[in-house]
Amino acid sequence: MNTDIFKINIKQIDKKLIEYAAKKLQNGELVAFPTETVYGLGADALRPEASEKIYAAKGRPSDNPLIIHIAELSDLERIAVDIPEDAYILAEAFWPGPLTMVLKKSSAVPFTTTGGMDTVAVRMPEHPVALELIRQSGCLLAAPSANRSGRPSPTSAEHVYEDFQGIIPVILDSGSVSIGIESTIIDLTETTPMILRPGYITPDMLSEILGKEVKMDPGILEPEGKTRPKAPGMRYKHYAPNADLLLVDGDRKSVVDFINQKTREQQELGKKVGIIGTDETVSQYCGDIILSIGARDDEDAIARHLYAMLREMDAAQVSIIYSESFLTPRIGQAIMNRLLKAAGYQVLEV
Ligand code: TXA
Ligand code: MG
Repeated sequence: MNTDIFKINIKQIDKKLIEYAAKKLQNGELVAFPTETVYGLGADALRPEASEKIYAAKGRPSDNPLIIHIAELSDLERIAVDIPEDAYILAEAFWPGPLTMVLKKSSAVPFTTTGGMDTVAVRMPEHPVALELIRQSGCLLAAPSANRSGRPSPTSAEHVYEDFQGIIPVILDSGSVSIGIESTIIDLTETTPMILRPGYITPDMLSEILGKEVKMDPGILEPEGKTRPKAPGMRYKHYAPNADLLLVDGDRKSVVDFINQKTREQQELGKKVGIIGTDETVSQYCGDIILSIGARDDEDAIARHLYAMLREMDAAQVSIIYSESFLTPRIGQAIMNRLLKAAGYQVLEV
């Protein structure tokens, strides 16, 4: 299959290109599109044979449900039932935006799309191309991150192409995304709302708007194996680069010294070593591939660059990666959630 990449300028959206992609969706085919978080791999959410194609293309386990993307609030009622007041309060505050809500599903949503669950995850993305595509197609779009299962999520159309060249017909390309990590997922089917995946919208932001406590799924706060995370996707090893990734935490000088010492040891064994540091530290390292994720106090930049760094390390075919750790004040929890999973929870305190 030939994979077309269409560049779309978000300030002047070419409706003809969107129309072409919308037709593909109407025909039950897959289209990759930008959102503000990461690129998504879209299909008509209400047709089982369309969403099945997503699982096949990604190599995704069939019990890992998909998020449905909508462009109008009224569409919420087509796919969810028993919608609590909290959902409308959160939609008013955060939609369109990087927040996904888990609600009871309606009979319109096939179990293929929800991985067999009787709940459905819904989000309204804050990206003009995504919204235009949903509107023009007249479909609600099931869309996971547009990466092959287990690969880092795509933050640019090139990343999508790397994983799906020859496998999907169309990629809409609006350049690099603005956030870089996937949406926060909140489950509203429990008495107390529960965060199933941390993201750009923090627990504090959610509890402030709701005027009540918001829990964090205990399953995502500790290494895999102890408590089972409620979101199936959070149970799988994920976001993994090919190389072994080790996080190093401590004061700046000790971290730099430790990584440099480890790097020398690995290089003596003939290994190619990658290092992920910050603008403040990169010049102090001596690895084979040294990347800066951004300035340490710019947590938005850290989130935005994270997955591209991991992909770059894969492309450079390093055999081991040492990375600084980034428990920054606001979205550090979301950043570290992704990085810890990528590292298989290997952290060294120095
Ligand atoms: O930012 C995002 O959310 C991106 C963009 C494309 O919108 N999408 C995304 O989708 O990250 P995906 O498939 O990579 O991750 C969806 C996560 C998985 O962990 C999945 O298990 C969980 O959402 N999920 C989906 N439906 C669920 C449900 N009904 N109950 C619990 N977890 C659910
Ligand atoms: Mg994903």
